[in-house]
Amino acid sequence: MRNSMTEYVLQIKDLVKKFGDFTAVKGISLEIKQGEIFGILGPNGAGKTTTINMVLGLLKPTSGRIVINGMGIESGGEKVKSKMGLMTQETVVDGDLTARENLEIASELYHVPADKINEKVNLALEEAELSDFADKKAGTFSGGMQRRLALVKAMIQDPLLLILDEPTTGLDIQNRVSMWNHIKDLVKMGVTIILTTQYLEEADALCDRIAIIDHGVIRAIGTASELKKMVGQGRIMEITMENELQAQKAAAIIKAHFKANPTVRGDRVDAVMGKWDPKTLTEMLTALDKKKLLVASVNVHLPTLDDVFIKLTGSGMRDSASAEYTSARSNIMRR
Ligand SMILES: Nc1ncnc2c1ncn2[C@@H]1O[C@H](COP(=O)(O)OP(=O)(O)OP(=O)(O)O)[C@@H](O)[C@H]1O
Ligand SMILES: [Mg+2]
Repeated sequence: MRNSMTEYVLQIKDLVKKFGDFTAVKGISLEIKQGEIFGILGPNGAGKTTTINMVLGLLKPTSGRIVINGMGIESGGEKVKSKMGLMTQETVVDGDLTARENLEIASELYHVPADKINEKVNLALEEAELSDFADKKAGTFSGGMQRRLALVKAMIQDPLLLILDEPTTGLDIQNRVSMWNHIKDLVKMGVTIILTTQYLEEADALCDRIAIIDHGVIRAIGTASELKKMVGQGRIMEITMENELQAQKAAAIIKAHFKANPTVRGDRVDAVMGKWDPKTLTEMLTALDKKKLLVASVNVHLPTLDDVFIKLTGSGMRDSASAEYTSARSNIMRR
């Protein structure tokens, strides 16, 4: 039974995890409402999996409190665990078993009533678009098919809270987008989801609210648009010059003439333009041209979560996740 006394499915307060001298999670607090997709976004090693493992009761917190549906995790044991479904980065479906057998075993494990198993399994296969492959060994499936099977397997006991730890890491972009659609469908069925990801675009596309974490600390929490507003209401301008010296000269001009505080990285100038007027771009190019500065390329865009991350941490997402996505996306667009 759902606890109608609380609208929060998950509450985490001052959660800390130390491994010896190293503190992986440094006092995280957050609350997740029923029906939300809540994203924990952060680069490799940020503390995402450590946090998730504590929620699952697989790791004991050094300190802090976790409450699931009004129940303290330390008191709940099996009762609390039965409310959670899990799919991880490494979630494996058994390759020697068929898709149907994988789901049947999970059903038994989670005590789905025997007379309901067949119906549930068929429904799950349908949801995963695997009905035609139901009796084929999962080991013969593509990565995307295996993930879809893992996803419906995690849902087989109708969990209150579905935990997805990097559900799309390693998938190509088509499969990633297909997983996003499946995840959105699950939310329509009423499940609450906590999802970790290193993909900014994934958090942006899927999550109602996002916590950006880095080095075990929440840097910001909010909807994607709230987070983007932290960067400003204007536009981000990225200008690539012929060389570094030119970039520095260009930055000086932009600083002097336009309301912006540009940063220079190599031959690139990044500027947050607080107020955006379509004429700004022409005026800026004219100003640079007057000084005989050569612009190689210009990119103007609305703030993205990457810009938020840069503002909060002083660097981009450290890994190549975003670059990989961008190149995958441009490959698709070229097709
Ligand atoms: N059992 C452990 N013993 C010691 N250090 C650990 C242990 N588990 C995790 N860590 C460290 O804690 C930090 C956070 O790890 P965690 O796996 O939570 O990161 P993550 O955000 O899930 O990263 P990824 O995106 O790579 O999955 C890392 O520096 C990691 O090396
Ligand atoms: Mg992880």
